[in-house]
Amino acid sequence: MTTQQDPQLATPSVSFPQGFLWGAATASYQIEGGASEDGRTPSIWDTFSRTPGKVLNADSGDVACDHYHRRADDVALMAELGLQSYRFSVAWPRVQPGGRGPANSKGLDFYRGLVDDLLSKGIEPWLTLYHWDLPQELEDAGGWPERDTAYRFAEYAGLVHDALGDRVKFWTTHNEPWCSAFLGYGSGVHAPGVTDGAKALAAAHHLNLGHGLAVQAIRAAVPDRQMGITLNLHSLQAATDSAEDRDAVRRIDGVGNRIFLDPVFRGEYPADLLADTAELTDWSFVQPGDLEIINQPLDMLGVNYYTRQVVAGPSDDGAPRSHWRAPSAWPGSGQVRFLTRELPVTEMGWEVDPDGLVDLLKSTHENYGPIPMYITENGAAYDDQVAPDGSVPDPDRVAYLDAHLKACHEAMADGVPLRGYFAWSLLDNFEWAWGYSRRFGIVHVDYDTQVRTPKTSAHWYADVIRRGGLAA
Ligand code: FCB
Repeated sequence: MTTQQDPQLATPSVSFPQGFLWGAATASYQIEGGASEDGRTPSIWDTFSRTPGKVLNADSGDVACDHYHRRADDVALMAELGLQSYRFSVAWPRVQPGGRGPANSKGLDFYRGLVDDLLSKGIEPWLTLYHWDLPQELEDAGGWPERDTAYRFAEYAGLVHDALGDRVKFWTTHNEPWCSAFLGYGSGVHAPGVTDGAKALAAAHHLNLGHGLAVQAIRAAVPDRQMGITLNLHSLQAATDSAEDRDAVRRIDGVGNRIFLDPVFRGEYPADLLADTAELTDWSFVQPGDLEIINQPLDMLGVNYYTRQVVAGPSDDGAPRSHWRAPSAWPGSGQVRFLTRELPVTEMGWEVDPDGLVDLLKSTHENYGPIPMYITENGAAYDDQVAPDGSVPDPDRVAYLDAHLKACHEAMADGVPLRGYFAWSLLDNFEWAWGYSRRFGIVHVDYDTQVRTPKTSAHWYADVIRRGGLAA
């Protein structure tokens, strides 16, 4: 792997250690297209995006970035940018159509080819088993609120590992299970679009159980496999020091962070979370032995970070609220308010707050470490335009990435064992309910022609990787 820094280049003033892993990330449904090719069956996102009103402009991942057919060129582009690692996800309905039964070898061939292409260019493959594309048949059978889905997931994980375990070193089970559970079954803004707090909590538990079962299945084959999970941990700040606002942080931390961190790293659910949600569920979906299964030793924790959230208790003091509305993605959290501040925002409306990343990494390390951590996603959407000369200048994204990498550096100086960073995203792509209206790529994609153009940020990032760091 290319982990050597270029000796020809001046030493950066903010330098990262040798061996720090520099990469970029994508996800299957967001880039692949080829939605009904070679035996792939629909996922919940195919169904959701075909349901009127669910995705902006009725966009879908049917074609997306056509990566299914442009894989080799895309890997060549990664090599040109000097990426050391590429984080991608496997589409479950491509490799196990319908979510049950034997593997579809044609579907697996795509990922075998991808991994071979990456390795031939010296790029470390980083595989995510689940980035939200649940086979529709499993949703029809109850989806993540149904216990059996966890067992189906472990079986699927074993199939993927049988095919790729000899070549892929880094394995993560879920990407952002909070979104799967609470946007999928709580607020309903993501597939499958269910709005039921009790189901969202059951889904969270079964996602945790599926994680533990998948780790067990893979370790049964290769005991020293590098395994982890990616969480979108919420970096929270109380609006004031009042008891009410601090209680708001406790509640959101419970149903946003500790609902995953505590069972995964400590083998328990937080007592205050069980109390907060008691009116919705008695948690009888947690069966004897489940917590031991979930609490598997891990080799790394992936953290996705975009913004910080300032929360306040229910008393309405007239402060401006952010976009969270009923039905809630935060079951049991009462009438907690999310406040907006006078900070610059990205095209998603998310406030730019790199210090929130420093605080998040440090508190996660203190409370759950030591565990090697990776930033598995960080990036920003801006309304990029192609200039008349064909270039795509994106100074806001460069500033965003620069500030967040400095935040990583600061956290490392304070003792956080951060081992790598993946920019979200390699390519502009299908941004879920926002369709193609939000561009996160360091590489611009023209969706009419599928032409890829590295933006200024891609050239800048390539330089950062070559130098092993940043200018001050
Ligand atoms: C994360 C998702 C990723 C992408 C970014 C912007 O929540 O994991 O797929 O949509 O947000």
